[in-house]
Amino acid sequence: MAYRWTNDLTAADVTPKSVFFNRRQFFKGAAGLGAIGFAASQAAAQEALVPNSLEDITTYNNFYEFGTGKDDPAKNAGEMITSPWRVKVDGLVDNPGEYSVEELLAGLGVEERIYRFRCVEAWAMVVPWNGVELSDILNKAGVQANGKYVAFETVVQPETMVGVRQGVLDFPYVEGLRMDEAMHPLTMLATGIYGEPLANQSGAPIRLVVPWKYGFKSIKSIVRITVTEEQPEATWNRINPREYGFYSNVNPEVDHPRWSQGSERLIGGGLFAKRQDTLKFNGYDEVANLYDGMDLRKEF
Ligand code: MTE
Repeated sequence: MAYRWTNDLTAADVTPKSVFFNRRQFFKGAAGLGAIGFAASQAAAQEALVPNSLEDITTYNNFYEFGTGKDDPAKNAGEMITSPWRVKVDGLVDNPGEYSVEELLAGLGVEERIYRFRCVEAWAMVVPWNGVELSDILNKAGVQANGKYVAFETVVQPETMVGVRQGVLDFPYVEGLRMDEAMHPLTMLATGIYGEPLANQSGAPIRLVVPWKYGFKSIKSIVRITVTEEQPEATWNRINPREYGFYSNVNPEVDHPRWSQGSERLIGGGLFAKRQDTLKFNGYDEVANLYDGMDLRKEF
């Protein structure tokens, strides 16, 4: 399973970028020979999960609390207050409360996972996250039997957030997952990238990472996690449900009404980098069974 994270794989083990791109060149040449060559080039691209540089990851961002431009978060997020930080855990849980990040993570091993990350805007990166499985946190909280969804909320700091002052969206930014998605072992709460604490623009001090869904589901700088019985509201879904579904699984078969989702641009690939095919569930096929019996064109 090519895109699956492995616990023993670290950034240092991954093929250096130059080797990777040369290898792709080689396979691209081979692709002219026919379908087998093409399949080989896809396989090569999948196996060599080369993380983007920390610079790529921390200078090309979406974090509307700091403005709508890709470089606004890096420019504007420096003043965000990330310590002290409390996360309210409430709703249908046995152990509600306000916890520091340290308390949330206590007793859990932070691990590195190299995940593909795909924005709904059709750009992609590969990010070496550090964090824990969300399920571990939810299990500590004690999800009650009628807990069907998990809702998340981002901090609102008008004094440090220019996008909040300008009202570019209806803040706080909110998101949600169905309980089986939240409990899936791929779903992480991340606290770092490349072994460093998250940069503010990346969602410090703690953010969600759901690698098979469009990036807007991966809500940043979380201050509240609520277990609910009803499907929670989600910011982009609320703004335009026709364009941004609640599930928002990466899916090349369901185009955004205004652009194709069939291919994606890998950030850091250079000016002449070819677009690559979008993979269903962003390549994380192991989540497909969560959606058995659903029509993903209707419930997208
Ligand atoms: N979380 C908050 N609070 N505000 C945002 O604007 N943008 C989302 C998501 N989480 C966003 C957010 C979108 S659209 C994407 S693609 C990812 O964050 C981007 O994450 P990155 O900047 O770390 O790549």
